[in-house]
Amino acid sequence: MTDTAQSPGTEKKVKRGAFGRLMKYIFLMKGKFFASLFLMFIGTLTFLFIPTLLGDIINNLATSGKSVAGTAYLMVGLSLVTLICLYTAFRWMTDVTQNALFQLRQELFEHMQTLSLRFFDKQPIGELMSRLTNDMDTINNLFQSPFSLTLQSSFMLVITIIALFLINPMLAGVAIVVIPMLAVFVAVLSHVSSPSFTMLQVKLGDLNGVIEETLEGQRTVIANRHQKISSTLEAGISHDASHAGSKAHILSLFISPLCLMSAFISIAIVAVFGVKLLNDGLITIGALSTAISYCLLFILPLTFIFFNYNFWISALVGVGRMFEVLDSSPDVKDRPGATALPRIKGDIVFKEVNFSYLPGRRVMRDANFVATPGMKVGLCGPTGAGKSTIVNILTRYYDIDSGEILVDGINIADVTQDSLRRQIGVVQQEPLLFTDTVMNNLKYARDGATDAECIEAAKKADCDTFIQRLPQGYHTVLMDGGASLSQGQRQLLTIARAMLAQPRMLILDEATSNVDTRTEKVIQGALRKLQEGVTSFSIAHRLSTIRDCDKILVVDDGAIVEQGNHNELMAKRGLYYDLYMAQYKGRITEVMTDIIAANDRLSNTGGKNAHNFKKIYRD
Ligand SMILES: Nc1ncnc2c1ncn2[C@@H]1O[C@H](COP(=O)(O)OP(=O)(O)O)[C@@H](O)[C@H]1O
Ligand SMILES: [Mg+2]
Repeated sequence: MTDTAQSPGTEKKVKRGAFGRLMKYIFLMKGKFFASLFLMFIGTLTFLFIPTLLGDIINNLATSGKSVAGTAYLMVGLSLVTLICLYTAFRWMTDVTQNALFQLRQELFEHMQTLSLRFFDKQPIGELMSRLTNDMDTINNLFQSPFSLTLQSSFMLVITIIALFLINPMLAGVAIVVIPMLAVFVAVLSHVSSPSFTMLQVKLGDLNGVIEETLEGQRTVIANRHQKISSTLEAGISHDASHAGSKAHILSLFISPLCLMSAFISIAIVAVFGVKLLNDGLITIGALSTAISYCLLFILPLTFIFFNYNFWISALVGVGRMFEVLDSSPDVKDRPGATALPRIKGDIVFKEVNFSYLPGRRVMRDANFVATPGMKVGLCGPTGAGKSTIVNILTRYYDIDSGEILVDGINIADVTQDSLRRQIGVVQQEPLLFTDTVMNNLKYARDGATDAECIEAAKKADCDTFIQRLPQGYHTVLMDGGASLSQGQRQLLTIARAMLAQPRMLILDEATSNVDTRTEKVIQGALRKLQEGVTSFSIAHRLSTIRDCDKILVVDDGAIVEQGNHNELMAKRGLYYDLYMAQYKGRITEVMTDIIAANDRLSNTGGKNAHNFKKIYRD
């Protein structure tokens, strides 16, 4: 399965093999697991020997009336052994299960990080988080004690039934008729409740998705006065989750009364039958009392087993959902024998490149271009034309369908992703900062960068001044992605971060689209320093920012329709000319309207001239 095969919410029931796969993690501490099982067995055995001793005491009292002190001491001794064995067994089992959980969680998180973007395109982040939290919790809940209790109860059940048979096979036979009866009840109830467990996990996943997205986009939610609608959406899914939850737990509601009832039925049958055997002299009074004790004692483990059944089902559904992620493989992979890309000089060639995000929906068609070392390449074109896509495939976030992308003559598909990406600096439209100190945010780009290097980069990117003004300077913790900084300041920080990485190739994806013109000037200054001596690609919304590029690629509907420098493209009077003139005209209109409006104010014409100008110029 590749990482494109995910579709959240399609799981119906416990996946086959889930139990085996869960046990593999348990077996990571095989020695301790089996040692714990052994102690559990011994502890259960000694515990279950006590009713037999009780029977002895009763027989003694009924017949000889001899002292029972010896037997009583033995009982106390056995109780102590039981206590020590069971305590140690449970303690060790906790180590085993917690280790299993830790390994599973690590593996899942580490695996998620190896997956390609294509995987994340298809999964809401909250849904994935749910797999790491809710689904992991279901396993944790099983491992808390139901896991050990189920194992111990199984020993107890088997040993009591054997003991009953040893006392009297006929009595045992009638005592255990309640087991199939109970099993039928449980089977029917679990048939009703099992699908609800899966539904519950799926709904919790969906719920996490919605909550994560809403909280993340709180500004947009508030701006669009969407709070009520978001709440309704959340309430709908939450309601479904509650409904599934209630249905899922129907079994646990019935289990206790059902088991109690079975115990009494079993005891009643054994008593009636036992008295008959007693009268016929086939059984002693002590043996009968032991048998009755065992009747109670075998219902106890049955209750535990059935009661814990819910935990098992939830956990196994959770395991299945986690393995869906663990089984996905990254679809961008290093080729076997892939070599490291040597230090990039900056020769970039696109040869007949075709690409689609989704099968059959081509986004990039026959793209060809050449960039020489140190060249400043600008990319422009309408929204959705495929500009960011060029960046996505140049950085190999996605593999292309056909054609070649060469860096210094080497096909990027033949080199390791790491060696390629570590040489590419990317500055996105939305600066991304982590909840950490300013210093650590800068160091994110290069492990092992010194504080001095960070400060030097910050100075070069014009952010030293405002960082110094923060409460703890470079050690100020930025909260919520740096929400306390302005958009421009955040962008300057990401530029300093990119500088620190000393990239050999640079990609600026609308890096100044979200800032005002004055901030743009500051950022442009910092970017120019970053561009020095390396091949760079700047995607620009405002064409004025790429006017001076050595080469401009005009992208339209997935194809590079024009390329050349500003003057060449203007002379062509094609798409670039149209885009440029449209922006230019808009800008001129704005400026001229401002001037005439100012004039209007001075000459008290009530804005008439400005209005007329705008009308004429626009038409
Ligand atoms: N992750 C994705 N999955 C599927 N389609 C995508 C994805 N990203 C972009 N697209 C589609 O590819 C086309 C080009 O997008 P993009 O390169 O982001 O355009 P832009 O020129 O605005 O940067 C658009 O039609 C967009 O809908
Ligand atoms: Mg884009």
